[in-house]
Amino acid sequence: MTPTILGLCGSLRTQSYNRKLLNQAVQLFGPCSYQEISLNLPLYDEDLEDRDGIPEQVQHLADAIKSADGIIVVGPEYNKGLSGALKNGLDWVSRVPGGVWKTKPVAVMSAASGRSGGETAQYMLRHCLTPFGAQLISAPMVAVANAAQEFDEEGNLTNERYFTAIKGLMAELRYLSEKSH
Ligand SMILES: Cc1cc2nc3c(=O)[nH]c(=O)nc-3n(C[C@H](O)[C@H](O)[C@H](O)COP(=O)(O)O)c2cc1C
Repeated sequence: MTPTILGLCGSLRTQSYNRKLLNQAVQLFGPCSYQEISLNLPLYDEDLEDRDGIPEQVQHLADAIKSADGIIVVGPEYNKGLSGALKNGLDWVSRVPGGVWKTKPVAVMSAASGRSGGETAQYMLRHCLTPFGAQLISAPMVAVANAAQEFDEEGNLTNERYFTAIKGLMAELRYLSEKSH
């Protein structure tokens, strides 16, 4: 059976290197039913939630997380931390009853302009995902440094060492996703 894979990108910009990384990973994952859902959500505000409930976009995101067999989360590093869009998305989804992340296989990656490829932000992202009980894949780590130099015009990575790491990570995600299917 073809696993259902959900992609979440912590950068909202159209030409995001993290989205290119996400798309490259999906290619290397192999056959799957894939969708990316935007994290361009309203800023979490408890008054807004009390007044209007969970926004439709957030419910859609939570439903997609719940029904996915595996999830790939990518994000940039902003000032040594994870992006506001990503944290905001996690906060919103945590307000939806039912623990949608529970036992979900999750692969995390980062791309950034710095030399560590957003490693600090990636660890912060892993830390923020921990309370939700997902199956976070711990290795291999994929952190694309100097991101602007690493993708060709078609959005493909050019450095073989990243391919090897992404293939390893996607193989693990495939194994866990097929088990949870
Ligand atoms: C507000 C801001 C803060 C940033 N802070 C960092 C940082 O701490 N470390 C780093 O490696 N790059 C940093 N960058 C550069 C990003 O890594 C770079 O813009 C990257 O391409 C963003 O990801 P994207 O291409 O997916 O949008 C920062 C960029 C912005 C806009």
